[in-house]
Amino acid sequence: MAKLYKLYYFVVLLLCFVESLCDVLCEPGFCSEFRQETGCGRTAPECRINNATHHGLTLASPTICNCCEFCLPTFNEGDHCSRGGPGLGTTIGRCGHGLTCVAEAGGNFCRRMTTPCHRAQDDFDRRHLTGNTGALEERPECDGKGKYGVVACVPTQTCFCQSETGERIFGEAPYLGPQTKQNMHCRCSRLHEEIKRNLGPGLRKPVVGPRCTPDGNFFPIQCLDRTCHCVDTATGVVRQGSGTTVNLDKRPMTDLVCYDASLDPYPEQHRGQPPFNYTTTCIKGIQDRVDLIEQSRDEGFNVDFYSTVTGCLPDWTQTRIAVRNRTRICVDDRGKQIGNYQAAPNTPEFNNMDCKCAHTTSIMGSSSETPVCCANGNFRRIQCRRGMCRCVDSDGRQEGLERADVTRLSCFTQNWRTC
Ligand SMILES: *[C@@H]1O[C@H](CO)[C@@H](O)[C@H](O)[C@H]1NC(C)=O
Ligand SMILES: *[C@@H]1O[C@H](CO)[C@@H](O)[C@H](O)[C@H]1NC(C)=O
Ligand SMILES: *[C@@H]1O[C@H](CO)[C@@H](O)[C@H](O)[C@H]1NC(C)=O
Repeated sequence: MAKLYKLYYFVVLLLCFVESLCDVLCEPGFCSEFRQETGCGRTAPECRINNATHHGLTLASPTICNCCEFCLPTFNEGDHCSRGGPGLGTTIGRCGHGLTCVAEAGGNFCRRMTTPCHRAQDDFDRRHLTGNTGALEERPECDGKGKYGVVACVPTQTCFCQSETGERIFGEAPYLGPQTKQNMHCRCSRLHEEIKRNLGPGLRKPVVGPRCTPDGNFFPIQCLDRTCHCVDTATGVVRQGSGTTVNLDKRPMTDLVCYDASLDPYPEQHRGQPPFNYTTTCIKGIQDRVDLIEQSRDEGFNVDFYSTVTGCLPDWTQTRIAVRNRTRICVDDRGKQIGNYQAAPNTPEFNNMDCKCAHTTSIMGSSSETPVCCANGNFRRIQCRRGMCRCVDSDGRQEGLERADVTRLSCFTQNWRTC
């Protein structure tokens, strides 16, 4: 049987391998002895103060077994900073969140980084001051390096994962307030993007990345060959403890403490006799096609993996647009048609169909304020709510100020109601 590449497991398993190595070397009691004999150096006070102006990052010191703590102060905007790092400059520390050390006439100072995300924030702030931001428009969130944060939300609708460059990627969940953002780590869907980016075009077989949940987090169970582990859904790191590992040749994954039936569309894989499985219809389909291609090659046929095998989504399901009877329809993660969204072949609606609005309404469930979609499941350019209308982009994000009078919207067209 053809093996699919399982790149990422190296990362996860390496981590726990190194951790267990450390357990052996750094026995309990080692550190207290080390601290008595060698002692720990004095660290900067900033981490202990931790107020608006004095703060730092507490790190494990680079001593053996990380027995000591170490404080790296973080500087504020406009503070002096050294460019050379420890030993070279006058101060040891680093510029805080979103700042970088810039050489100027009077020395080196921490300044806000110039990045697309910061520029988008500045643009939002400028418009906000003059009252020109929409009620459902969100200030872009940037990370410590000035890149886009992992999640963007359309308040009242859904939140979705985005890449460092601000492009929407796999992973969406209903917006239930600020906690939705905190629960969406999108590390699994970002890892998929990274794997995709790093695969050379010469690769002969499709790559199966880690399995994600529809919100872009890690599926709580990840398997390497026939062994399944419980993992942290935010980080993907293997969890330790009893009931966190099974061998599918003997036991089903329902025996795992982290098994969650609500996340599992294929319960039949765990019934009956071993060997048990961990797969989905989409992944199984790819595997079968790969097997077929390998067999054809062995028999001397010239077949191309690229044109023959297309992938599954990061949650191991089919894409959300299906073709039935040559017509495109929008489907949910279980392959069931959403509403009556469809597009006939050879129409513009067929070619630009993305089903994003259909999917958003399906995720929002019975909520009364679902967006209005076009017949092909895309977002209608104009959305109205509580007597006010606004322009939205293809992801449903508000663009500019809302108006009571639709004709005053920049995206207004005569046929706005029907897309
Ligand atoms: C933070 O703590 C330092 C040292 O205790 C103090 O000098 C400074 O004024 C404090 N800043 C704020 C904003 O409270
Ligand atoms: C798991 O898959 C194998 C190979 O496809 C199959 O023979 C076996 O019956 C499956 N096990 C279960 C419990 O469905
Ligand atoms: C497919 O489309 C044709 C022509 O529109 C129609 O006659 C037929 O019933 C359709 N088949 C299915 C399964 O929907």
